[in-house]
Order: sequence, then structure tokens, then C-alpha cells
Amino acid sequence: MGKERLDKILGHLGVGTRKEIHRLARAGLITVDGEIITDSAFKFDPSLARIEVAGERLEYQTYFYLMLNKPAGYITSTKDRDGIPITALLPEELQRDDWMPVGRLDKDTEGLLLLTTDGELLHRLTHPRWKVTKRYYVELARPATPDDVAVFAAGDLELDGEALQPAELHLSPDPYKPDPYKVELVIREGRFHQVKRMFAARGNEVTYLKRVAFGPIWLPADLPLGGSRKLTAEETQALYHAVGLANAK
Ligand code: URA
Repeated sequence: MGKERLDKILGHLGVGTRKEIHRLARAGLITVDGEIITDSAFKFDPSLARIEVAGERLEYQTYFYLMLNKPAGYITSTKDRDGIPITALLPEELQRDDWMPVGRLDKDTEGLLLLTTDGELLHRLTHPRWKVTKRYYVELARPATPDDVAVFAAGDLELDGEALQPAELHLSPDPYKPDPYKVELVIREGRFHQVKRMFAARGNEVTYLKRVAFGPIWLPADLPLGGSRKLTAEETQALYHAVGLANAK
């Protein structure tokens, strides 16, 4: 990649505001390839350089990724417009201005929400062409039936006059506690209110909805509601592979 200013590079890596980075530089706390850099306008290629701040090595990365266990009551937005945005849940060290949510969860839906700064990855993960699976745990007002399973699997249900792709409905996701009011649904696209509208089309009603997996990424059992964490290198790689991209950058 090309050369960039020190303050821009360190801002991108989440070191602090321009002002804070300027102060760190003036204090002689930043080195690039072993040399103390006091001018925050100094330009270099971050993908080739060894950067240290206060003696700690910073690994350069172009894009960022995290997962959030979304609670009900938050809107899938990064802007404070018509409700509390999901970014309000992120701790200080995960805050950035360029997060983009990967698909939407309704305000009352809980569960796995991925965020990234890579627009191409986001586009592919949410485009029906790539058929990335989204797995939901669903609670219903009325029992789901084998007929629902057949209709969803056949792919002949229509929303907005357009046929849906086949979806898998599992009537007993927990074989030890069979309960027709509690099911799992796996879909491969992400239409507006899709899960709720699929069950509404069957004369049923979703009373609770939680996303448990997005493509190869599962909501970890130990990530509390409202909790978030960076994706591991393996998880990031699995996402790129799921949409035909070779490598994370
Ligand atoms: N389908 C819905 O109806 N709502 C969601 O939040 C996600 C999928």
C-alpha cells in the first residue's frame, strides 16, 4: 500500500484522536522501524513498517471485524437517529467511526450481529448470490408443523411477489426437549423482516427471535447479551472463504 501520515495510520489502528497521537509523538513515544518520530505528519507505508507506541508493537491491519450479542431494544444502525444504536454497546477500545453492520436485526431481535469495515466483504455476506446461511432460534405463538417444514424447504413461499430460496426448518432443535413452539430456521438470504414474515405467511407469529449463527460464525455460548469481541483470525478467514474471497487483508 502507499504512504500515509502517521496520525492517520495510528487513528485507523485505534490509538487515539489526532490530538492524542500528536501528543504521543511530541513525547517521543512513537517509533517507526526503530526511529523516534515526533512529527505526526511523517509519511510511511504502514504495511511494511514496524510501528511501536510506548514500547508496544502495533500490528497493521486494513480492515476490522467484530461480533456482538445484540439485546432487544437497540437498532441495527451506527447512528443515533431513531433509537439507541448497537454501537452504543461497544466498549471504548472497540469504538470506531467506520463500523458497518452485516445485515440487519430488528429492534426486538437478539443474537449474533457481525460488524466490519470491509465493504466488499459486507456486500458479499449480505448478497443472496453467495447464499450465506443465517440461523435463527424462533419462538412461536402456535406450534410449527411438518407442513411448514415442507413449504419452507420447497422454496415456493413468496414475499413481495418474489419466491424465497429454500429454507430449513428444524422442528426439534433440542431433541431432549421437543417443543413445537421452539424451532430453528436456516435461511440463505436476508429480506426485510424475513423470518417474521415467513411465519406470518403460514398463519403463525414469531414471539421471540434470536440469530445464533451467520455463515460459519456461531454465537459463542459465553458471549453475554450486549457483549462484543473482535473476531479471531480463523473466524475472519472463514468468513472470507464463505464468500469466495481468498484472504482477509
Ligand atoms: N428476520 C426477521 O424477521 N427479523 C430479524 O431481525 C431477522 C430476520
